[in-house]
Amino acid sequence: MFISKSLGTNKDGNLTIGGADTTVLAKTFGTPLYVFDENLIIENMRSYKESIDTYYDGRGIVFYASKAFSCKEMARIANREGLGLDVMSGGELFTAQTADFPLDRVCYHGNNKDFEEIQQAIESGVGRIVADSGEELQLIDSIAKTLNKKQKVLLRVTPGVEAHTHEFIQTGQIDSKFGVTLETGAAFDVIDKARKLENIEFAGLHSHIGSQIFDEEPFICAARLLVGFMAKVKKELGINLYELNLGGGFGIKYTKEDKPKPYRTYMQDLIAGLCRACDDFKVEKPFLMVEPGRSIVGAAGITLYTVGGVKNIPGIRKYVSVNGGMSDNPRYILYEAEYEALLAEKPYEEGTETVTIVGKHCESGDVLIKDIKMPEIERGDILAVLATGAYNYSMASNYNRVPRAAAVMVRDGVPRVIIKRESYEDIVRNDI
Ligand code: LLP
Repeated sequence: MFISKSLGTNKDGNLTIGGADTTVLAKTFGTPLYVFDENLIIENMRSYKESIDTYYDGRGIVFYASKAFSCKEMARIANREGLGLDVMSGGELFTAQTADFPLDRVCYHGNNKDFEEIQQAIESGVGRIVADSGEELQLIDSIAKTLNKKQKVLLRVTPGVEAHTHEFIQTGQIDSKFGVTLETGAAFDVIDKARKLENIEFAGLHSHIGSQIFDEEPFICAARLLVGFMAKVKKELGINLYELNLGGGFGIKYTKEDKPKPYRTYMQDLIAGLCRACDDFKVEKPFLMVEPGRSIVGAAGITLYTVGGVKNIPGIRKYVSVNGGMSDNPRYILYEAEYEALLAEKPYEEGTETVTIVGKHCESGDVLIKDIKMPEIERGDILAVLATGAYNYSMASNYNRVPRAAAVMVRDGVPRVIIKRESYEDIVRNDI
């Protein structure tokens, strides 16, 4: 069994994604190549949206966190599926704008938005801006004033819940560059002062507790702390906070060890926890927002490479070099992230030797997968690294002046290019 339902094999025994033969994709579009299965992306989007419809009477919205994989076609797909978009830079917003995304369904984030970005957001009519501090609230207010607008905002708070992949802890977590702390009273003070700001509509709170999380408990815990805080704000300041954004963070299956639950189950549990907290604190159920990124697009993507040199250092290690690396997937060098890989022409063949798959960059840490058991690999083989749909293209670079790879979306077996491969001309375009 493969780790993602997007993957399969065809009559020639070749690996397929979304029904398309990966060897044909590699031949047609070249490598390295990002390939996405649109059906799985849509299925994931729907499971979030339908959870809110089913378990919360549709009183909420799902923002696709575009940082996971931002491009015009992803904005169009999110739009068709009725999702909103989470953006956190002028560039991500511009992508949404150029894809004609309805901007009232955009939520604008960031711990350090500059003046021009806030202006761009308000001018273009984004539905919500998540303010990161009291100072930024004032800046948003003053820019909205000059534009003669009233801007809906949420305040990012750190609820004191920190989640990691396999555990979570309730901590002060005061030491964060994001948001305003609940427990020191800082968030309360910001909201108190925000009452004077005439050009903002202060709608509610936002929190994001981490990423690649498998346990729903920290989300429920954060929701409870936030609802408790909403009750305090209502009681002591008479302010009704009526929107709550619980961020993103649900995990995906990178390797066989990862065991995410269906996203519907996470959402059902999270919503149940939220409703319990609202009952306990006697708070009206807020309009709910979530911002999944990785869990929408991560498992739906793979990267195809062509194998180059294979170098065996007896007794030490066997290196398999591919024609990409940290420029298209920096997640090993950043986080020692783990991946699985398959050979496109023999995906079912048992691994017989342990190899380390490395890129072509001038850096020893340029590793894609350390110590993976693979069948015999030769120069010219097409290698698929799995579950690369999130935070790969979006964190890609031109290190060593390597052009960024193309991205292809497959729908029912039919591929289409959604991002062109960069050329050497693109590489020198801004050089003077
Ligand atoms: N909302 C906010 C405010 C966020 O900061 C993030 C991710 C998300 C939503 C989406 O989280 P997701 O559902 O994708 O976990 N580069 C790292 C991941 C950084 C996540 C940053 N924030 C990686 O490659 O693992």
